Amino acid sequence: MNKETIHVFDAYGTLFDIDSACRNLEKELGSDWNKLSTIWRQKQLEYSWLRNSMNKYISFWEITKNALDYAMKVLEIKNKNIKIKLLDLYFKIESYKEVYKFLTKLKKLNYKTCILSNGSLDMLNAAIKNSNLEKIIDKVISVEKCKRFKPSKEVYKLIIDEFNVKKEEVIFFSSNSWDIHGASNFGLKTVWVNRQKKTDDYLPGMANYEVRSLEQFYINYSKEQNLQLEI
Ligand code: LAC
Repeated sequence: MNKETIHVFDAYGTLFDIDSACRNLEKELGSDWNKLSTIWRQKQLEYSWLRNSMNKYISFWEITKNALDYAMKVLEIKNKNIKIKLLDLYFKIESYKEVYKFLTKLKKLNYKTCILSNGSLDMLNAAIKNSNLEKIIDKVISVEKCKRFKPSKEVYKLIIDEFNVKKEEVIFFSSNSWDIHGASNFGLKTVWVNRQKKTDDYLPGMANYEVRSLEQFYINYSKEQNLQLEI
């Protein structure tokens, strides 16, 4: 990794806490909050992959709404107010606690930082604003530009086109192992932020680094480079 390396991040699950919307409504949802969050996320991803296969692109925000409808139906949650509140929370979703500090450190080291996400620009910008990340994220790239979802190669290519760099000059971070395989299959160097110690997928490509948090990557990197950085 050198000074020109562009640090690119997946959004949902990597910088932004995908369980936070349901967790914030724990009082209303009771013990089902966790189940609802899991089904919602799984369906959201499935719909993105299926729509890729069907060549039927709609925005990730529409997909997120469809997936929530599905998850609420499965769990027989009929309260419309809950749906409105969940969508509002998801639109400006919270970041993981180490994100602000981690990105600030990268900026102090003069690295370029970027988000590459399935998310539509309006939802990504709302989440960035909500966590005060505007000044420490240099670029936000949405799949809206190519109208394909990850792990299509067209998506990862958006980084190369945007920055006019070689693949070797990019390091891609994601908590989703299938996204890591997708980015690696395209030719990027990858960091799997495996927060929940999940099992790796049997897919083309691989993770070059595996860490439990963004913070851990920074600590390992500092040691590797023999840098005296404040952690
Ligand atoms: C994203 C989803 C895949 O942000 O987490 O692209």
